[in-house]
Parts: sequence; C-alpha cells; structure tokens
Amino acid sequence: MKKDKKIIITIDGWSSCGKSTLAKQLAKELDYLYIDSGAMYRAVTLYFLRNHIDWTKPKAVDEALKNIVLDFAYNAQSGHNEIYLNEENVEYLIRDLVIAEKVSDVAAIKAVRGFAVAQQQEMGKKKGIVMDGRDIGTVVFPKAELKIFMTADQAVRVERRFKELYAKNPNITIEEVRDNLEMRDYIDSHREISPLRQAEDAIVLDNSNLTMKQQLDVALKWVKEKIDKKK
Ligand code: DC
Repeated sequence: MKKDKKIIITIDGWSSCGKSTLAKQLAKELDYLYIDSGAMYRAVTLYFLRNHIDWTKPKAVDEALKNIVLDFAYNAQSGHNEIYLNEENVEYLIRDLVIAEKVSDVAAIKAVRGFAVAQQQEMGKKKGIVMDGRDIGTVVFPKAELKIFMTADQAVRVERRFKELYAKNPNITIEEVRDNLEMRDYIDSHREISPLRQAEDAIVLDNSNLTMKQQLDVALKWVKEKIDKKK
C-alpha cells in the first residue's frame, strides 16, 4: 500500500468491549502501528500509586508528570507494541485490577490528559496508525479517516474481562469485575474533559454476537472503503 494511502483509524468505546483486540487485528493485517492509549493512562496511574502522588493536588501532578517518560516498543514474542514507564516494561503490571480501580480518576485530570494527548497526536503524524481509547475520534484525531465506536452487551463485556483477569488471579470474583466496569464506564462518560462519546462521524460496531474473524472482516471492509475514497 502506498504511503499516502495510509489512514488513521480510531477505535473508541466502553471498557472491555474488545477495542484492543480489533485494533491489534487491524494493525497486523494492514501493517499499521497499534497504540493502546489506555495503557498510557494506566502507566501514569502506576507511577502515581508507586510514588504516593496525591493526584488531587495539581502541583503534585505537574511535578510528577515531569518525571514520567512513556515509550512503546515492539515485542516480537507478543507480536505488538508494549508500554514502557521510565524504561521499565509495565505492559503486564498495568492490567491489574488495582490499577483499573484508580485509572479513571487519574485519566480525568486535565494535566494528565494534556500530557498523554500531545504524545498520541505526535505518534499519528505519519498516519498508518490504529489507536484505541475513549477520546481518540473526538479529541486526539478529530480528522481521522475511519472512526469506529465499539460496543457490546454489558454481560458479554463482564464475562470477557472476568475470564481475562481470572486467568491471572483466580481469587477475583465476577462481581468485582462488574463493579469496576460499571464504575469506569460511568466516570469515563461523565467526566468534564474529553468524556467518552461517539464522534458524529463514527461507525458503530456492536460485537456482542460476532466472532473475532467476523469483526475483523467488517472493519476491513470499512478500511477499504475509506482508502478507496482517498484515491
Ligand atoms: O482502555 P483501557 O481500559 O485500558 O483504559 C483505561 C482507562 O483509561 C479507562 O478507564 C479510561 C482511560 N482512558 C481515557 O480516558 N482515554 C483514553 N483515550 C483511553 C483510556
């Protein structure tokens, strides 16, 4: 595919509806860069927790952000980009429920959003990128060629996230997972800055009853339409 035909694909939606799965599938298929924007908010949260930063204090947040460097590097074993916090691979640590319980509060802070969004926009300059999150189609890349808004039934989402977390921690209960999901969806869609919402020009993809192959096929059809439009 010619360089000038490369597009920006944004995938926004509720927690645990398969955004990153679809983003990884698309990046692999199209040979695009995949960036998990949520990982950036999770890594900042990990830093704040480890360093006992009181994030209700704007000054403390500003100071802490000065000491945070985030990077993504490709891991051939996992087949995708993994996040580094000050040169430490934290890709797996940040998936813990301890982080999930605090990340929505941290992601609602103006300075944290400014910090993450500036880096996300820089990464999209060369196009050929798939980024998933909550505000990617609305705020980070408002001019993206293809915007997907993903959704799935809540019961399906809880079940999926439970299976994922249970594999790592058999002490986890389905109620904990449901409570966390409901809380994050509420905070993410009600916060003042860049709340989760569907961009006007986004296409909705409900994958409650789709297999991974089916959801990829649907999205690839949309990509093709958008690239053909650019010709
Ligand atoms: O996609 P995720 O579950 O890893 O995201 C973790 C949290 O980060 C989520 O609860 C909301 C926040 N987030 C955000 O506010 N904006 C984004 N672009 C991505 C994630």
